Amino acid sequence: MNVEKLKALLDDMSLDEKIGQLLQLTGLFFQKDVVITGPEGKCGFTDNDINLTGSILGTMGAEKLKKIQDEYQEKQPHHIPLLFMCDIINGYRTVFPIPLAQGCSFDPDLVCRAAQISAKESAAAGLHVTFSPMVDLVHDARWGRVMESTGEDPWLNSLYAKAIVEGYQGDSDHIGHGKIAACVKHFAAYGAPIGGREYNTVEISERTLREEYLPSYKAAVDAGAAMVMTSFNTLNRTPSSGNKKLMRGILREEMNFDGVLISDWAAIEEMVQHGVVENREQAAAVAIDAGVDIDMCTTSYAHNLKNLIEKKIVSVDLVNEAVWRILTLKNKLGLFENPYKDADAAEEKNIILCEAHRNEARKITADTFVLLKNENILPLAENKSSVAFIGPHIENREIYGFWSMYGEKDQTVSIADALRERFTDVKVAKGSPMLDASVGARVYADRKDLTATEEETKALLEEAETLAANVDTVVLALGEYRAMSGECKSRANICIPDCQMELFRRVHAVNPNVVVVLFTGRPLDIRDISQKAKGILVVWQPGTEGGHAIADTLYGEVNPSGKLSMSFPYSVGQVPVFYNEMRTGRPLKVGEEGYTSCYLDIPNTPLYPFGFGLSYSDFSISPITLSEDKMRVSGEMKASVNVKNTGSRKGKIAVQLYIKDHYAAVARPVRELKSIKKIELDAGEEQTVDFVIDRSMLEYIGPDMNYTVDPGVFSVYIGDCSTTENEAVFEVV
Ligand code: GLC
Repeated sequence: MNVEKLKALLDDMSLDEKIGQLLQLTGLFFQKDVVITGPEGKCGFTDNDINLTGSILGTMGAEKLKKIQDEYQEKQPHHIPLLFMCDIINGYRTVFPIPLAQGCSFDPDLVCRAAQISAKESAAAGLHVTFSPMVDLVHDARWGRVMESTGEDPWLNSLYAKAIVEGYQGDSDHIGHGKIAACVKHFAAYGAPIGGREYNTVEISERTLREEYLPSYKAAVDAGAAMVMTSFNTLNRTPSSGNKKLMRGILREEMNFDGVLISDWAAIEEMVQHGVVENREQAAAVAIDAGVDIDMCTTSYAHNLKNLIEKKIVSVDLVNEAVWRILTLKNKLGLFENPYKDADAAEEKNIILCEAHRNEARKITADTFVLLKNENILPLAENKSSVAFIGPHIENREIYGFWSMYGEKDQTVSIADALRERFTDVKVAKGSPMLDASVGARVYADRKDLTATEEETKALLEEAETLAANVDTVVLALGEYRAMSGECKSRANICIPDCQMELFRRVHAVNPNVVVVLFTGRPLDIRDISQKAKGILVVWQPGTEGGHAIADTLYGEVNPSGKLSMSFPYSVGQVPVFYNEMRTGRPLKVGEEGYTSCYLDIPNTPLYPFGFGLSYSDFSISPITLSEDKMRVSGEMKASVNVKNTGSRKGKIAVQLYIKDHYAAVARPVRELKSIKKIELDAGEEQTVDFVIDRSMLEYIGPDMNYTVDPGVFSVYIGDCSTTENEAVFEVV
């Protein structure tokens, strides 16, 4: 529809219709066979709300959504189509590794490919908008939603944010066939709750907000993200959904975002609980003034805006502005011409979980694994028959992560499934229950099948010990169950469940040749395993093709290449821990602890640092060659290294470039990631890798809160981890 007609539509709409567009309900209200008993039933929505709402969330399926659209449009006075939105975070039915795993690929193209397939499948199932990418920077492994982030680095998160938005939307302004609109979230700084406790307060400086947390949102907006979602938290005492400085000042004016801003679930109404407004009416006034367009699942807007306008507390212009953005998004999706967009039951059946998608997922998944330790125990030689596969994750197919509500067990490949395709005689034992009281009863309240009685546990352990004692090598599949990470899954102890650690100790006691395959949604405290196991492969929550990708890696068809995008802490006492920390006035020099910044009982360094990951190959990286030793602020220079695969098999390596600003007007991090290049080399092959250093890598936010570069001494580090000492010094003049 052209802009003039769209404008005429807006002008012709009644105030009730306009306010209806600002409400989002769940699809539950549109399914005749469903009796609303959950929290939605208590929200007080009326039939009028249901008939005029502008969008629904959480329902998928081509036929179902086409039917809902038909019935809704018939009643809508101007037959304006509904928007269909859903959390397709790491895949629809072909489920990819969780975003934190994808962040460890150090490969934005890989992340883009996963988003493209997610878009194709969910668009065929009728979806218009996904509540993804979640680009919240994370430093705290206690917070359950680190699984949904791509990690701790602002620059790397920005690269992924751009790649995911382009994967979903394509790079055009019109969101075409097989594409869906992206909704970047949660604006802003939701990943920094005090204590890592879900929904808790966020208190960070303006500089930290701008240098660490905002870049990834900006990258998503610059990539054309159609929507932004507000965060639940207060940011320096103001709830995001009512934070006009954040929403109109930073998001809309500074970042030039003119798309749709939706609240997180009930976040407008929750301003009452935050204690900054007295009731939903005041919450509605504050939120619409802050520029929030859609109220997710409360009656704050629907039942108060008309009254606020009549009392002249809120201008109707604010409602018109919000409705215009929503109509513009519906127009961008082509919904006025085709309200079904790509919904097509036949196409849905053809492409969902098709072989091409599974094959692509299998390759993508393997490149997200991180090999943390390998004392010549991996890859397993095919002919080494005496390998036992033990642990509660060996047969587990629920390996698609917290947000994969459409992932299905019987469509997911477990480790055991993949092994049984390879070998006739696979030695497996469960070894322990998945969970026990150490993880908190809430995790398994409705899943008693994930726990075991004392007798059952004893028998499982004995069976595992006997098996382990009679083979060369044991592959132990341990770690978090999918519901241990995700929304409202903060953990004060970031350990593997006690019952599984008992299994590790008992197996290791009878057979030291142990490889641990670690399933997790977050970095864990794995000190004990790190000391005793001979191999550690982190597979995160790997998704539909997880078992195949794990077997491919264990047996060497795939050479692991992942690098940690979030540090593994030495212990939870170290959290938050991240590589780009400040130096302090008394930096620790190991061996000279004295009065320096350190702990009495643990080291400062994480167990495994950002950027770390091993390969089955070995790589050498030469000293850095600089094209100049001086560079003008507005100039650029080249930094090159020679990388050689000195191993015996082809492998990939993510070469990382970090910059250190030695002296600046404010304290600066010890180093910051500014570029990556992932290359693949045959055994013995050597390649020169060139990087260009320019102003964008040197800038920081100065005392006046503007980006600046101070002339002076800088270091560039190029290596295979954030701890590389491969350094060259240059001067900026
Ligand atoms: C949830 C999450 C948000 C999600 C939304 C809709 O509470 O915070 O990430 O997109 O509600 O499901």
